[in-house]
Amino acid sequence: MNVMRTVELFAGIGGFRIAADRLGWETVWANDSSEKACIVYHDRFGPKELHQGDFTELKAVVPDHDVLTGGFPCQPFSSAGKKEGTRDARGTLFELIVDVLKMRRPKFFVLENVKRLLTMENGGHFATILGSLAELDYALEWRLLNAMHFGLPQNRERVVILGVRKTREQLDPRIRLALPEDFSTIKGRQRDRLAEPATWNTIPEHKARFPDWGLASAGRFFGLDLEKFTTACPLVRLAAVLQDTVPAEFDFTEATLKWAHENDPVNRFIHGVEILSNQRGGARMGYTIFGTNGVAPTLTSTTSRHYERYKIGERYRRLTNIEYARIQGFPDEHCKAVSVYDQYQLFGNAVPPPLVEWVLSRLSDDGITRHALPRRKEPATLFDDAN
Ligand SMILES: C[S@@+](CC[C@H](N)C(=O)[O-])C[C@H]1O[C@@H](n2cnc3c(N)ncnc32)[C@H](O)[C@@H]1O
Repeated sequence: MNVMRTVELFAGIGGFRIAADRLGWETVWANDSSEKACIVYHDRFGPKELHQGDFTELKAVVPDHDVLTGGFPCQPFSSAGKKEGTRDARGTLFELIVDVLKMRRPKFFVLENVKRLLTMENGGHFATILGSLAELDYALEWRLLNAMHFGLPQNRERVVILGVRKTREQLDPRIRLALPEDFSTIKGRQRDRLAEPATWNTIPEHKARFPDWGLASAGRFFGLDLEKFTTACPLVRLAAVLQDTVPAEFDFTEATLKWAHENDPVNRFIHGVEILSNQRGGARMGYTIFGTNGVAPTLTSTTSRHYERYKIGERYRRLTNIEYARIQGFPDEHCKAVSVYDQYQLFGNAVPPPLVEWVLSRLSDDGITRHALPRRKEPATLFDDAN
């Protein structure tokens, strides 16, 4: 078996890199423009592969590789100069990925992005992305995945898009199914349609949310909301990854404690997240107190300081940077080269390595995807209403 060579675009702190390392793959080139992210990347992986700077200036020097990976920033697409309903990827960072795919033609690519990619602009955003990628010589598959199904205590839904370069022997897009964990869930009429790419919908004509899973090729797609993912790993509660000893600096301030005590009780699980209390009538995130018997809500780069407030035992506090690392599936000390404040932001932006490792593990060096393994029969849920 040949060692797979990967390129990591928009690398951040190296979420894809960790996954590739675990599979024994070689990351030959990486790029990010953020100074803080690059400090971490250098510290963890050495200076050799990472090229700091705006990717617009660097795309031409990306070397040959087998797998392109990247969690690209979400930017608006312009509709200027195009017929109504279609968007133009020109001038965006996403377009740079398309350029590299055309130039280097890796065997695979794996892109990652936020869940709302499927719904933005009534599906128009995702249609633009799929449309651009499906013009290339790749068969596409996408899936909405949740970090909580990969052994992490976090409700974090992310879309991954897998591209498989077509070869003369493998022109049929159907053989590439890799992301549903169990094909027996696709039945009857749907299975017939799946088998007949000529009956698939045309991408630009789709004017609605895209389903959670699908295939696309040559301008057409077939998509389904699959049954909810039954997990590759047992579900883990937030309580299981918390630090035992946490300094007082993470505790609520007096002012925060005051309003916290004025909250109304909620005591429900929503998407696996335990909500203990909230401001009267309040859906406002800023006033929510979370418990630790479920998973954490999605960690983000902006909410870390102000909004993520937990009752942990008898204490009211926010999560530590080390707990952020664990909830995202990174080693505790991964971001030690930057300040605690910056760590929240970098972890909040990152892709959870176990989630993308599951996707990368589907790819083999002969350029073919492995079929999904039969699902493990785990209990449906640990939480009242976890999905
Ligand atoms: C969603 S984050 C990806 C995080 C990464 N997957 C990780 O695990 O940390 C997007 C990244 O794109 C980088 N970025 C944004 N604009 C860029 C540009 N023009 N050139 C290179 N990197 C850029 C940001 O600095 C950020 O780290």
